[in-house]
Amino acid sequence: MPDAALPASAERSGYDATYAAWHHDPAGWWAARAAALEWTRPPTIAFDATLGAYGRWFPDGVLNTCHNALDRHVAAGRGNQPALIWDSPMTGRQARYSFAELTDRTARVAGALAALGVTKGDRVIVYMPMVAEAVIAMLACARLGAIHSVVFGGFAAAELASRIADATPKVIISASCGLEPGRTIAYKPLLDAAIAISPHKPSACLILQRPELEAAMTEGRDHDWAAAERGATPHACVPVAATDPLYILYTSGTTGRPKGIVRDNGGHAVALNNTMAMLYGVGPGDVFWAASDVGWVVGHSYIVYGPLLAGCTTIVYEGKPVGTPDAGAFWRVCAEHRVKALFTAPTAIRAIKRDDADGTLLRRYDLSRLEALFLAGERCDPDTVVWAERLLGKPVIDHWWQTETGWAITGNFRGLGLFPVKPGSGGKPSPGFDVQVLDEASRPVPPGTIGDLAVKLPLPPSCLPTLWHNDQGFRDAYLAQHPGWYTTSDAGMIDQDGYVSVMSRTDDIINVAGHRLSTGAMEEVLAAHQDVAECAVVGMRDALKGQVPLGLVVLKAGVTKPEAMLVAELVAMVRDRIGPVAAFKEARVVPRLPKTRSGKVLRATIRRIADGQDYAVPPTIDDPASLDEISALVAPR
Ligand code: COA
Ligand code: AMP
Repeated sequence: MPDAALPASAERSGYDATYAAWHHDPAGWWAARAAALEWTRPPTIAFDATLGAYGRWFPDGVLNTCHNALDRHVAAGRGNQPALIWDSPMTGRQARYSFAELTDRTARVAGALAALGVTKGDRVIVYMPMVAEAVIAMLACARLGAIHSVVFGGFAAAELASRIADATPKVIISASCGLEPGRTIAYKPLLDAAIAISPHKPSACLILQRPELEAAMTEGRDHDWAAAERGATPHACVPVAATDPLYILYTSGTTGRPKGIVRDNGGHAVALNNTMAMLYGVGPGDVFWAASDVGWVVGHSYIVYGPLLAGCTTIVYEGKPVGTPDAGAFWRVCAEHRVKALFTAPTAIRAIKRDDADGTLLRRYDLSRLEALFLAGERCDPDTVVWAERLLGKPVIDHWWQTETGWAITGNFRGLGLFPVKPGSGGKPSPGFDVQVLDEASRPVPPGTIGDLAVKLPLPPSCLPTLWHNDQGFRDAYLAQHPGWYTTSDAGMIDQDGYVSVMSRTDDIINVAGHRLSTGAMEEVLAAHQDVAECAVVGMRDALKGQVPLGLVVLKAGVTKPEAMLVAELVAMVRDRIGPVAAFKEARVVPRLPKTRSGKVLRATIRRIADGQDYAVPPTIDDPASLDEISALVAPR
C-alpha cells in the first residue's frame, strides 16, 4: 500500500511495476532520474557500454555534486532550512547550520584549500572525528572537483599511512582530537606518525583545533582551519565530468592492502538522490539520520551526500548508542531533532536492546515523527528486527549493501509501498540491480539454494567503476569469477518470493560491529611477531558485535614465553598496526593448525568449532587429530 506520509516526490507505482520498468529500459529509467538534478551540461547518453571495465554512466554529462547538495537548495529558496545538525553528547554541545550557512562555510573552506594549491583532480585525505567540519571538508573538496578520501578515526597510523601512500594527497585535513567514551584521542600525533611512515608527503595539512585538546602544529606544513576559513575567499563550484571521481574510499580487501573504491560524480548523485524518496521515503525538509561515521560508506552516502542532495536535514552525531549517557541516546536524538527515518547498524540496536530490553528509556521520548528504522552493515539477526519492530511499532527494514555499491543492493522501498518484512532477509533487489545466486559454473540456481550472490553487469549508477589506479585489480577481484557478473563476495539465497538473504562472506572479510575488517590483514600482523611460526585469524560469533576476531598462533620451536604475555603482545600489535576498531582481543596458542593435504588452513572449520557448531571433518584434511586439538583449545567454554 502507498504510504500516506511519503513526500510528493516518492513514486507510487509499486515495487513490482517499478522494478519491471527499470528492467525493461535501464538507460531510460536512469535518464529520467538524472533529470532531478541540475547539470552544467545535461547528459545526452545515459550509459555507454564501450567505456571502462563494464561501461560508464552519463559519460557526456557535466555537473558539480556540491552545487546539487547545497547551492541548488539555496537558489530554490530553502536557504534558511536546517541542512546539518551537529549533536555531540561527547562534548555536551550542539550546532545547527542552514543550507545558506553550510554553503557559505563550504565555499570558504574550498577557498582555503584552493589557496593551499588544491585543484580539480587532486586528492585530499580527510581524517576527522564526527564534527560538522568533516562534512564541510568533504563538500569543499567536491566543490573544487578535488577527490576526497576519508579515513576512519579508529584506524592506526600505519593504516592511515598506507592510504596516504596510495592516494598521494596534496593536502590532508584533520582535527586535533577525537573523543571516545573515557578517552581523548590525539589525532595529530597519529597523523604525524602516518606522514613519517608514508613515502608520499602532503604539501600541507589543515588542522581543526578542538577545545578539548589542542595540537602542536608543524611550522610550514600545518595550517589552522579556523584562521584559514576566516581569511579565505569563497570558491565557486567547479564543473566536472559525471565520470570524474568524487571520492576514493578504502575498504578491506582479501589482502592486507586496502582497496581504493572509486566513486564518480554523476552516477553517484543520481542514484543517491533517487534512493531518498524511493527507499527511505523522505524528501526536502525531512530530517534523516544515519547513525554511522563519515569514515564508512554509510556515512558518505547517508550522512553527507544522499540527504543533502535531496534537500533533507542531516545529523552528525558524536556519540554512541549506549553510554552517552545511556541506551536512550538514539531515541533522544530522534525526538529532539524530529527524525523521520533512522539508519544504523544492527550492532547499535543490539547494544540498546542489551541495556534497555523492555524499552523503559525508549518510552521517555516522543517518537511520533519517526517513521522507519533502517539497518545495514552486517547480517541482522531476526530477534533484533522483531524486538525493534515491537517496541517502536514502525517498520524495521534490513537492507544489504557494500562500500563498492554505495547504496542498497536489496531493500524494502517505502516510496514504492512496503512489501511484508521477512526477518533475516535483506529484502528484494533495488531497481537497478539484477541479483542472482550462482553456482560454481556461474549458472543461476533454483530458489532457496545457497550460492554466490552476484549482480548482472552493468552495475547501476554509483557503483564503483574501478579501483583507484588498479583497473586490473578491479577486474580480478570483482569480474573474473563469474564472467558477465559482478561478484559480491557474499553467499546467500533468494527464496521463491524473491527475498534475498545474505548468509556470509566467501572471502576473509569479517564484520565486527558493522565494521568491515580483513582477517588476512590481522594474520599479516600476527605473523610479524618474532615468536610466531604460523597463524590464522577467524571471525567468531559475538552476541553484541556480530563477529569478533580470534587469533590462533603456532609458536616457533623453543619459545617458552607465557601465553598471557604473548597474547597481550599480539593484541597490542594489532591495535598499533590496524587500530582499536579491529577489536582484536583474543588469541590462543595451538600446537598446529588444521590443514588440507595441500597445506590450506581449514579456517571455515575452525570458525565452526569456535562458534560451538557441529562440523564435518573435511575429506581433504591432512590429519584429523589436529581438529580434536583445536576443539579442546578454542571451543566456547
Ligand atoms: N576513533 C578512535 N577510536 C575508535 C573510533 C573512532 N572513531 N571508533 C571506535 N573506536 C575504538 C573504540 O573506542 C574501541 O576502543 P577500545 O578497544 O579501547 O574500547 C574500539 O575502537 C572498538 O570500537 P567498537 O567496535 O565501536 O566497540 P565499542 O565496544 O567501543 O562499542 C558499540 C560498541 C556497539 C557501542 C559500537 O560498536 C557501535 O556504536 N556500533 C555501531 C556500529 C556502526 O555504527 N557501524 C557503522 C556501519 S553502518
Ligand atoms: P561494507 O563494505 O563495510 O558496507 O560491508 C559490506 C558487507 O557487509 C557486505 O558484503 C555484507 O557481507 C555485509 N552486509 C552489509 N549489509 C548487510 C545486510 N543487510 N545483511 C547481511 N550482510 C550485510
